[in-house]
Amino acid sequence: MKLQRISLIIVFLLSVVSVAAQITWKEVLPGVWKGSAGAPDAYNFLTVTEVQPREDAIQAMASAPFPLERAKITAAVLNGETYLRFPLEKGEQVFGFGLNFQSVHQRGKVLNLHVDHYGGRDNGRTHAPVPFYVSSRGYGVFINAARYLTVYAGTAVRLDSDDFPEVKDRNLDKSWTSRPYSDAVEILVPADGAEFYVFAGPSPLEAVSRFNLFNGGGCLPPRWGLGFTQRVRTLYTEEDVAEEVQAFADRGFPLDFVGLEPGWQSKAYPCTFEWDSTRFPRPQQFVDDMLAKGVRVNLWTNPYVAPQSPIYKSILPFTGSHTVWLGAVPDLTMPQARDLFFGQLNKSQVAIGVSGYKFDEVDGYDHYLWPDVATFPSGKTAEQLRQTYGLMIQRYSTELFHDRNQRTFGLVRGSNAGAVSYPYVIYNDYYNHEHFITALINSGFSGVLWTPEARASKSAEEWLRRMQSVVFSPMAMINAWSSGTKPWSYPEVEDQVREMAILRMRMMPYWYSEFAKYHFQGIPPFRAMNLEPGFQADLDTQEGSTDLEENPYAEAVNKEVKDQYMAGEYLLVAPMFAGQESRSVILPKGNWYDFYTGEYAGNGEVITVTPGLDRIPVYVKDGGIIPFGPVLMHAPEPGEKIDLEIRYYGHKPGTYHLYDDDGVTYDYEKGDYTFREIRVVRQANGTLKTSISAPVSGKPNTVASIEFVAMTK
Ligand code: GAL
Repeated sequence: MKLQRISLIIVFLLSVVSVAAQITWKEVLPGVWKGSAGAPDAYNFLTVTEVQPREDAIQAMASAPFPLERAKITAAVLNGETYLRFPLEKGEQVFGFGLNFQSVHQRGKVLNLHVDHYGGRDNGRTHAPVPFYVSSRGYGVFINAARYLTVYAGTAVRLDSDDFPEVKDRNLDKSWTSRPYSDAVEILVPADGAEFYVFAGPSPLEAVSRFNLFNGGGCLPPRWGLGFTQRVRTLYTEEDVAEEVQAFADRGFPLDFVGLEPGWQSKAYPCTFEWDSTRFPRPQQFVDDMLAKGVRVNLWTNPYVAPQSPIYKSILPFTGSHTVWLGAVPDLTMPQARDLFFGQLNKSQVAIGVSGYKFDEVDGYDHYLWPDVATFPSGKTAEQLRQTYGLMIQRYSTELFHDRNQRTFGLVRGSNAGAVSYPYVIYNDYYNHEHFITALINSGFSGVLWTPEARASKSAEEWLRRMQSVVFSPMAMINAWSSGTKPWSYPEVEDQVREMAILRMRMMPYWYSEFAKYHFQGIPPFRAMNLEPGFQADLDTQEGSTDLEENPYAEAVNKEVKDQYMAGEYLLVAPMFAGQESRSVILPKGNWYDFYTGEYAGNGEVITVTPGLDRIPVYVKDGGIIPFGPVLMHAPEPGEKIDLEIRYYGHKPGTYHLYDDDGVTYDYEKGDYTFREIRVVRQANGTLKTSISAPVSGKPNTVASIEFVAMTK
């Protein structure tokens, strides 16, 4: 038996040797290694985005050794395809592979990474199937190939495996399993070679941060982007929009930008990219009127060009062989197509003051998107375009705004690796509240942002629960394109919804500073508990015991943590879902305090909470500092100063880095910003000793006055 296996392995090794490809490794930045095997495609995520890594920030991180046994990473090229293999250890978990909606643990999955509208299964077809995974052992792996990749994330067992599991007899052995232990992530890249990157940690969060910094650091939205946004019914006229905006003001609901849906265009699906002259006869006046009310305008579009569009004839030579809803598909890899397409948006919309876009339908579905047999004039394949279209639309539209030194914050339905620095949030048509939270958690592993948008609800309870989640997400949005729902549409909970919307506005100094940390340090503002320092290590040592009394983490060890997340440096958010009166919350080690009352909530344990309808459970780490602003109906404009209320929780000395800049331009790229250090120490007699570093002269300073509040009595 043994002999037979050995000879099998020899035969097998001989066959492998003939296809094995040498991997060339290079440490491109501290803790970032590039591997290359065979002849990789010239077209990849990094050549599409051409984003410069934030080298300064990566250099500032502690250097780290290569995190894997290098010899265990192998590549082979056969028949125009590349086979990659990365080792896994016992007990190791992997996270990421893009925007999954139902699972956080990816070990044991077979995934076909393919940009698509999420179809209800975590199978790799999703809005951002980012080929990056992070290991619980604290490193990350990124495959830089704009192809449909097949991933076997710890599912396949090779004959020559170092960790070959015991072969069992199904007839008599109850422990036989259809999924024997696998010791590797294997990836099929349908190209003659592959380029990949390994990111050191040492913690999972540091590996993710390095990946984010390598891709330019996170986006920094304008302040108004973090305010409240309402997307109105598709056929609204300019009067309807004005009326709705007025209703927000009259009812005391904040509003920073309003989204117009397909009806602003003269034709949609395919699109003309021109204002409809009956519904919006005076676009410039309309945009000006909105701006005068402190409300910016965001426009929906898909990129498919209608025969009636002014750019149709000129763009045709630079479009694909196949249509989408009979519209031409611009080959955005070609400068000619980009000049025409973005030139039209610029002339008709950006130049008159439109603040941003919602780029729809750059993800899927297969039955209406261009097929894989489509050809494009650049010679790029349909597959390459499918994997990168959302990236290109984000890159070049951001450049339109960058050219005007004006920040944007918009929406996109398709994205991929490398989008970290683009100021876009992903959304979709799926509408499962629980799954929306899992997507929010997963977005943090992949360098993308996700909004659990609220559209409508079956009950006032559901509406309030959804609005509570939306407020603790990258974009506080109601998307009423079809339903016409307003924040106050469920009168029983109007006050509670208003309170949440106002909370969002009051927390703007916190959200803004957290996004600055995403930008400058690569730390995702919304992220999994598994990225919380220490949490993963605790889980790893806890493996085995399933007794909750004995092991407070048992629940997390045996189950994925996919319904609670970290929001910024100090907050743990545990959303409630319709029908739930109570829920359990896993509090990592260290003291945690109730966000609303400052009361002690627990330490390294699973608590059960019954928060009532009005509140979404939120907890603050010991020493947590949350800067609050005043109640505002719109984000502060440049030069506007606000009064700060700095809330301090718990007993440990706390530090916070409060970010400040003008809030709307890109001048921060030239150094026009400050991080002011806030310190709070609780003294023996209970009083607080507080300090904040002075504003830097010549740099923007939007703080008028500061008051410190001890939340924990
Ligand atoms: C969908 C999109 C919705 C809405 C709608 C308008 O594709 O996901 O959010 O914009 O189009 O027709």
